[in-house]
Amino acid sequence: MKQFILIISLLTVISKSILAQAPYKLPDLGYAYNALEPYIDSTTMYIHLNKHHNAYVNNLNNALKGTNGENLKITELLAEISKYSDAIRNNAGGHYNHSLFWTILTPKKNTAPDKELMEAINTSFTSLDSLRTLMNKAASMRFGSGWAWLYIDQNKKLAVGSSPNQDNPLMDASPIHGTPILGIDVWEHAYYLKYQNRRGDYLSAIWNVINWEEVTRRYHEVIPKAKGKFDDWPEIISFHEVLASTFHPAEEGDFSAIRNRSGELSSKASALATSKIPAQFNKKEVIDVLSKLSSTTKALDKLVHKKSSDKTLMKSLTAVHDSFHQIVERCK
Ligand SMILES: [Fe+2]
Repeated sequence: MKQFILIISLLTVISKSILAQAPYKLPDLGYAYNALEPYIDSTTMYIHLNKHHNAYVNNLNNALKGTNGENLKITELLAEISKYSDAIRNNAGGHYNHSLFWTILTPKKNTAPDKELMEAINTSFTSLDSLRTLMNKAASMRFGSGWAWLYIDQNKKLAVGSSPNQDNPLMDASPIHGTPILGIDVWEHAYYLKYQNRRGDYLSAIWNVINWEEVTRRYHEVIPKAKGKFDDWPEIISFHEVLASTFHPAEEGDFSAIRNRSGELSSKASALATSKIPAQFNKKEVIDVLSKLSSTTKALDKLVHKKSSDKTLMKSLTAVHDSFHQIVERCK
């Protein structure tokens, strides 16, 4: 009987830990405290995580005890935060906002929004520079402590705004609503050690360490990535990769790539011709050109083995290229 009770208790604990998020834990940064220098200093990062964020986590866990909020995911809790105490609101926001903040910073250089996010930025703000200016303006104008946000609003459009204290756009009590994908902490604890009262200098510097790959990932959690035309046909993507890296150098007079890779190109064409064609492209006019591509690529490989002239190879490679584009055309 005792064993039975123990098993039931264990199952209850396990299911609760899966369903509920509390008790919350302090996340790892994922990089060293000094990794963002010179833009954000090591001491600030250490204190910010281990003192400030840690306090939000502990205070949240204590404040949630015995409330319905204990059994909610953090996003569910934030969505109905107006039902809870100020202690839960401030500390749940503090934990969520900082957990997001650490991930959208990186020591990695030259990260960039993907094509789709960049298009959305250009549509909403005209350019990435304008977005930065708007974010910095929102952050500068936030009186006292708070956050500046790039978020996806309820019409699925990008928007910039700010919230006081530890509020965020996920909160029902917030003046702005949506899903945050980039947040800038403008509490003095985020910058005072290095920048003192120069919030503007901190705001200029932080763009050097924004992790656009993470911002992009968060963007696509809300706006699904557009499906590529040939995503379900890996053999055609694989063939095209080799074709592009051999045809274009040849056009510019460099035939070394095609001389080295004609066999690979030929086997990719054979694999493509015998691949499982996605239903939407599985029609006679496509199949006809697939076999033509395979034969033209084999002929090209033979010419390479015969050490044919560049001119002869270019003629043959152009035939392969034309066949490939006929396939693409017929797949429209
Ligand atoms: Fe902070």
